[in-house]
Amino acid sequence: MAIDRFGRNIHYLRISLTDHCNLRCIYCMPEDMTFRPNADLMQDDEILAFTRLFASLGFDKIRLTGGEPTVRANIVDIIRGISATEGIRSVSMTTNGLLLKKLAQPLADAGLQRVNISIDTLDPAKFKRLTRWGKIDEVWEGILAAEKAGLTPVKLNAVVVKGYNEEDVVDLAALTIDHPWQMRFIEMMPFAGATDLQVNQVITMAQIQGSIESEFGKLEPANGGKLDGEAQVFHIHGARGDVGFISSVTHPFCSACTRARLTADGKLRLCLLREKEVDLLTPMRAGATQEELRRLLLDGVWEKPWGHGLADGIIPLNRIMSEIGG
Ligand code: 5AD
Ligand code: SF4
Repeated sequence: MAIDRFGRNIHYLRISLTDHCNLRCIYCMPEDMTFRPNADLMQDDEILAFTRLFASLGFDKIRLTGGEPTVRANIVDIIRGISATEGIRSVSMTTNGLLLKKLAQPLADAGLQRVNISIDTLDPAKFKRLTRWGKIDEVWEGILAAEKAGLTPVKLNAVVVKGYNEEDVVDLAALTIDHPWQMRFIEMMPFAGATDLQVNQVITMAQIQGSIESEFGKLEPANGGKLDGEAQVFHIHGARGDVGFISSVTHPFCSACTRARLTADGKLRLCLLREKEVDLLTPMRAGATQEELRRLLLDGVWEKPWGHGLADGIIPLNRIMSEIGG
């Protein structure tokens, strides 16, 4: 088992398959983003070797992220390999949904269980402005394809940004009335340097909840009032789906964190918002033994930071979101 010095059992691994993306969301990366050369990224066999290594230490839950994981070559084979790994019980993916129309069924057949799809607004023009390149219709088709392929419950993610989509939260929440989806609102994390966005463009969970409640009445707690992953969940009275809030900025959930991340270039990252990383790919390529890699991994997990420092204005500068994987 991988335990940190605060007694947290770390068993949830988020693997970034690539830093590349077919969108350029304004809160995530600049339009002229330069990506890492492919040789720096974990190769398919290295991803599977890492999966076995983490599984041997009790990791049982894997989420694939990016950049955009579906732009990775051989994505279906990678998922098949991960889900066949002994000890792995849950395999999910965070995606922008653009390629799901074509990929949802093959991914489900390969063992993918669920997807979280980003959709920040239902308005085509605003969607284009937020993602720079995206067409909302393609995402919508992706969501329906995911549902049809049984990648359920479908969870949708919206990052809310002042001046872009704060008024759209009501229409997004309304989707849950007729669809059994979970619509999750995410407080934007202001990554300095990568974007022009500022701390004063964060819309808080309280503000989003206020907008939704002024339209639909008081939200009812769901999931017995407990966190669902990192989200606080509610439902609109009588709705089929849930509304969730991920308030990383105003209510960090660090004390219950069970996750670690593997960046696309093979570094173990212990907290999304702390710079500390342990390089695993370089030692693996240099021929480190399983025992040596296990030791590096366990020592890294032991040193997992207690929590992030967003509330104190501490923002990591070594990587942006698309390089860590969200
Ligand atoms: N703040 C919060 N969430 C972000 N994401 C990307 N950039 C940010 C940010 N600055 C999230 C998107 C997507 C996932 C890959 O990361 O919602 O779902
Ligand atoms: Fe791509 Fe996701 Fe970043 Fe948007 S938020 S640019 S879809 S990685």
